[in-house]
Amino acid sequence: MAEAPKKLTTFDLQAKVARGEKIFQVTAVDFPTAQLVDRSGIDCILVGDSLGMTALGYASTVPVTMDEMIHHARAISRAVQRAIVVGDLPLGAYHASTADAINSAMRMIKEGGADVVKLEGGEDFAPMAEAVVRAGIPVMAHIGLTPQLMSKLGGFRVQGRSAEAGAQLLRDALALERAGCFAIVLEAIPDRVAGLITERLQIPTIGIGAGPQCDGQNLVLHDMVGLFDRFTPKFVKRYVNCGDLISKALTDFQDDVKAGGFPAAEHSFTMKDDEYQAMLAKLPKA
Ligand code: KIV
Repeated sequence: MAEAPKKLTTFDLQAKVARGEKIFQVTAVDFPTAQLVDRSGIDCILVGDSLGMTALGYASTVPVTMDEMIHHARAISRAVQRAIVVGDLPLGAYHASTADAINSAMRMIKEGGADVVKLEGGEDFAPMAEAVVRAGIPVMAHIGLTPQLMSKLGGFRVQGRSAEAGAQLLRDALALERAGCFAIVLEAIPDRVAGLITERLQIPTIGIGAGPQCDGQNLVLHDMVGLFDRFTPKFVKRYVNCGDLISKALTDFQDDVKAGGFPAAEHSFTMKDDEYQAMLAKLPKA
């Protein structure tokens, strides 16, 4: 039997950056997709609350609950052997207090099986991040476009475009680094702001819509393989259109059944002739 691959840790991410290698992070939502992502060599699998939109059909990540996140995290952590499983904490799970933050992070680790947690928000949320780190759970920060707060941000919009907003992003990033976060996601911010943050921080930056200068890149699997078409942010690159492939398979299946091509002999089970005759003999006369 093939040996199980060595499980990565947050130290491996820092070592990659030190060697000048990029970090890869992908958001997955369930067991089969997490298996594919893990086997491909991706470093971090994010159980992102974007699953509210890609897997649960909500209009945004706002309604996602801690129980829903844990349900998906359990499936994903059962699938993953090598990658770091990052469990996202949803809106409301850490906003009221540091105690809430610790309790939610503990649930994500103990019940969800995640290795680390991620939380959205700038310096206002540094105390929550610090409390979770002090409780022994590594935290990935997330600033810029933080979809949980999209009403405050005015929708899914690029952040940090003005001088003041860009400078605030750097202050946020530094505060979260001081709080002990091991990495930070930069979402939908100008590439040069992300470049500056990457230069000023010691911890790795992982960009999604933040240009090429980040230490790593994140994409949502459903976006990159064409399984989510409600809208496509500018920063998404679609590598394959599985939506079209699946639709074609479903049409082919119906055509096949109508034409008598499915099921064929190789999809059917047989019964020996003598058994069949004996069965007929046991039946009441028709
Ligand atoms: O939920 C998610 O997939 C995320 C990424 C966009 C970083 O938070």
